[in-house]
Amino acid sequence: MIFDTHAHYDDKAFDEDREEILAALHPAGIGLAADVAASRDSLERVLSLAHGHDFIYAVLGLHPDYASELDEETIACLERDLADPKVVAVGEIGLDYYWNKASREVQAAAFRTQIDLALSRRMPIVIHSREAAQDTLAIVREKYGRGTAGAALEQKGVMHCYSYSVEQARIYTRELGFYLGIGGVVTFKNARKLKEVVADTDLDFLVLETDCPYLAPVPFRGKRNSSLLLPYVVRAIAEIKGVTPEEVEARTEANARRMYGLDGRQSRVPGSGSKG
Ligand code: NI
Repeated sequence: MIFDTHAHYDDKAFDEDREEILAALHPAGIGLAADVAASRDSLERVLSLAHGHDFIYAVLGLHPDYASELDEETIACLERDLADPKVVAVGEIGLDYYWNKASREVQAAAFRTQIDLALSRRMPIVIHSREAAQDTLAIVREKYGRGTAGAALEQKGVMHCYSYSVEQARIYTRELGFYLGIGGVVTFKNARKLKEVVADTDLDFLVLETDCPYLAPVPFRGKRNSSLLLPYVVRAIAEIKGVTPEEVEARTEANARRMYGLDGRQSRVPGSGSKG
């Protein structure tokens, strides 16, 4: 079964038919999904989506675009909600120098604060980084590099929608122990760099993601995305790696379960009885 490690089903783009799409996932081979928060407003929506569906997990945190919303009250709210059994990671957190909606200083401070929240709970993080390669790597090294508290963690997290170089991909995976999130972009004609990254990276470090409603794969580029389109991403990765789509599905699912610490929590998997 496919594991969509990064979706935004709480987005208003799904207001019309959210439950229909979610009900269609399992029959289409999509077993699990992580819904990822962005703004302060989204935290509650993401958590209630996870509470309402066995197969959805929550990732809670503030996206760098909303870094200025990280006040004392929001930190207290995160501290409380991160203890919820359906919450599997802190995210999406990081740096975004494309939109620059908060100053670089505010973004860096929110990134560090939220990493520390994750580290204190031994939880993985979901990193959003856009046009901020050097500064992101510097902060990740500071928190997860050799000899740090983060280095000792088994589950460190994922570089979501990985968009940087092959060289940095090697550092994030082999040196720092992070996974790379691969989605619709890998099917784009102009995604030569990402295809090189996928070719160069061991399948053990890749996880699937949609970032839906954004980044639909070819031939749906520009349309609303959903986990139902992940088979196009699976086929693109399989072609690049020279393996079967089934192998890509199985390996990335195992990686995602490990990454989000679900291996010891099998009772939460759909069909096993317990409701999240
Ligand atoms: Ni996202």
